[in-house]
Amino acid sequence: MRKTIIFLTLCLAGLSAALLAQPATDTKQMNKFIDRLMSQMTLQEKIGQLNLVEGDDVVSGGKEKAAFVQMVKDGMAGAMLDIMDVKKIYAVQRMAVEESRLHIPLFFGLDVIHGYSTVFPIPLGLSCSWDIDAIERSARIAATEATSEGLCWNFSPMVDICHDGRWGRIAEGAGEDPYLGSQIAAAMVRGYQGTDLSADNTMMACVKHFGMYGASDGGQDYNIADMSRWRMYNEYLPPYKAAIDAGAFSVMSSFNVVDGIPATGNRWLLTELLRNQWGFRGFVVSDYESITDMTNHSIGDSLDCATASLNAGLDLDMCSYVYIRKVEQLLREGRISMKTINQAVRRILEAKYRLGLFDDPYRYCRDTLRRDSIILCPQHRAEARRIAAETFVLLKNNGNILPLKKQGKIALIGPMANDRLNLSGTWSWCAQPDRYLTLLEGLRRAVDDHAEILYARGCNLMYDAAMEDRMVRRKKMRDPRSDEQLLNEALQVADKADVIVCAMGECAEMSGEAASMVGIEMPDAQRALLEALAKTGKPIILLNFSGRPMVLKWENDNLDAILQVWFAGSETADAIADVLFGQVSPSGHLTTTFPHHVGQYPMTYARYASGRPMGERFQRFKTNYLDVPVEGLFPFGYGLSYTTFQYSPITLSDSLLTSSGKITASVTITNTGNYDADEIVQLYIRDISGSVVRPIKELKGFERITLKRGESRTIHFEITEPMLRFYNKDLKHTSEPGDFTLMIGPNSRDLQTRHFTLK
Ligand code: NOJ
Repeated sequence: MRKTIIFLTLCLAGLSAALLAQPATDTKQMNKFIDRLMSQMTLQEKIGQLNLVEGDDVVSGGKEKAAFVQMVKDGMAGAMLDIMDVKKIYAVQRMAVEESRLHIPLFFGLDVIHGYSTVFPIPLGLSCSWDIDAIERSARIAATEATSEGLCWNFSPMVDICHDGRWGRIAEGAGEDPYLGSQIAAAMVRGYQGTDLSADNTMMACVKHFGMYGASDGGQDYNIADMSRWRMYNEYLPPYKAAIDAGAFSVMSSFNVVDGIPATGNRWLLTELLRNQWGFRGFVVSDYESITDMTNHSIGDSLDCATASLNAGLDLDMCSYVYIRKVEQLLREGRISMKTINQAVRRILEAKYRLGLFDDPYRYCRDTLRRDSIILCPQHRAEARRIAAETFVLLKNNGNILPLKKQGKIALIGPMANDRLNLSGTWSWCAQPDRYLTLLEGLRRAVDDHAEILYARGCNLMYDAAMEDRMVRRKKMRDPRSDEQLLNEALQVADKADVIVCAMGECAEMSGEAASMVGIEMPDAQRALLEALAKTGKPIILLNFSGRPMVLKWENDNLDAILQVWFAGSETADAIADVLFGQVSPSGHLTTTFPHHVGQYPMTYARYASGRPMGERFQRFKTNYLDVPVEGLFPFGYGLSYTTFQYSPITLSDSLLTSSGKITASVTITNTGNYDADEIVQLYIRDISGSVVRPIKELKGFERITLKRGESRTIHFEITEPMLRFYNKDLKHTSEPGDFTLMIGPNSRDLQTRHFTLK
């Protein structure tokens, strides 16, 4: 109440209506409040609400500072992005509420996509945990830390399905599967928004990038994505819808073109589908300058672009500043209507209302000390360490070389071995690398004086310094020594060691936005180093760092063990030590297929059979490649453990399913090895015949279970008719009677099958 009174005093000029601000759920009160507020707004002030302003310049004193400050004071900014300091946010909010005519607060957004300063693994890594609760908790922690810095809007979750490892942004999503992707999308929204959006530790989620951004042609960023509606509905749209059904209050349009029209100006996408079909009630923001980018898409000049986006249903302009410059003219010329503007303004004000900002504009930034006890607190770090260990995928473990014993001499070699800057991966603006351990430090601490960790860098990321410079923008890590010097040092270190652990792969900036690549094998200098080390005959374990699936064929053929560690965040070093030395058994399972060859893209395990599907063995005149298999090297769902799991035969309660009934598929899993460990039991279904082609298998369920040595557990999957629905040629979500194959196993390749019929 005190807060409300303080705020009201600030609002005497025009906002006595703030009295009406009530809990966010009271729609009637909210509408009344917003009606009243809008009746006091000038056209300019309304347009101002549709302007999302770059905050960096305001606080860093960049050359635009004065202009941005004036925008805020004139009520010409609705929200701001990219400020990462509670005191600065407080100062800007003060300008908005004390110096603008109507005292309307701003909301503040940032990309907090896998943690704030306590950094979790990149989203692709997180998805490999298949641990929906853990993912939700990671989002909750991210929101707790970010809101303590005054932020209340998160440009996450990124839910773009991707079948192409060339695309750098595959790092930011949950991989290739729409079922798993949907569960993760919803969990992240729940984690960010909690049950009360107006609480001072929850933030508004922003689902991105709507839509089909992950299907960009050729894996090139920002490129056209073209596909049939049938494919969109079945494969690409489900995670966006799941996030919206979970209550996400904002959506970001994508940079790509959909059906020949840029998503940012695509009315079918932003209004017909999103609002009319799905019932979305929040607001849509553009991506960074994506409104004026439409000029390059040949949509026309800035007036044409603004017209297209406003009429498509795009409410908030991220940094094109075209709405504030052009909307009045567009209204005069009758190219847009006042109704459209009012609608967009209302949506932005509703967001502010739901965030509780009309009740207290300083809700998220008043307490500038809160962050000290929250950010990077021991509980958050412990959770991040636990979760990071769950995301590592053991791809190979010849002769059970892993886990290592804490004894003897262990050589740690590679450009990622003693690096601090890259551990947090892409999109980690608020990482505090100085407070994280390098892998070398972490392993040394873990072995204490039981073993000796020797270290050599071994090589640079790649031989070509100019190419490395282009790939690594901020986190430069090149060693000035010659390739030969680096190699010799590594061979000397290896010579003294009992076992070699290589920390190699890509660096953080080789994935993420604008980081598409076709060379997704181990970079040349690192491969040469591996070849030289392999000649020593000593056992070699590769810790592969990457934000994308890589082609690891040579590594699989020549090394003893491979642990895919992604970019695991602030607790990388401890989490790797936990797994490497066996305190935790690896349990991550791939959510993106690792191919034999980059030329296999686009690919997914859930492909459609052709009329000439390949058989068990190679045959000409089938849907094959002459030179590589059709399947990936490591399939979707794949991941080894230090223990072994035995799956019993599947029992099916009935082979006939009625449309209102259910059948149960049961399987007993026994931990038959020597370690307590987690397993991810996966259920796939194939619809044998239908009015449209159906994938050869689709994930329909999974369960992550913990089994102690010798322990067994029976898992029951219930099969019901709604699980068998798909979008038919009329885009109707329906099932069709007929025969189905049900498959259960530890990955999408090694499956037992049973059959049932839907009546
Ligand atoms: C561009 C990126 O595409 C988007 O994901 C991000 O949220 C915005 N910039 C804001 O940083």
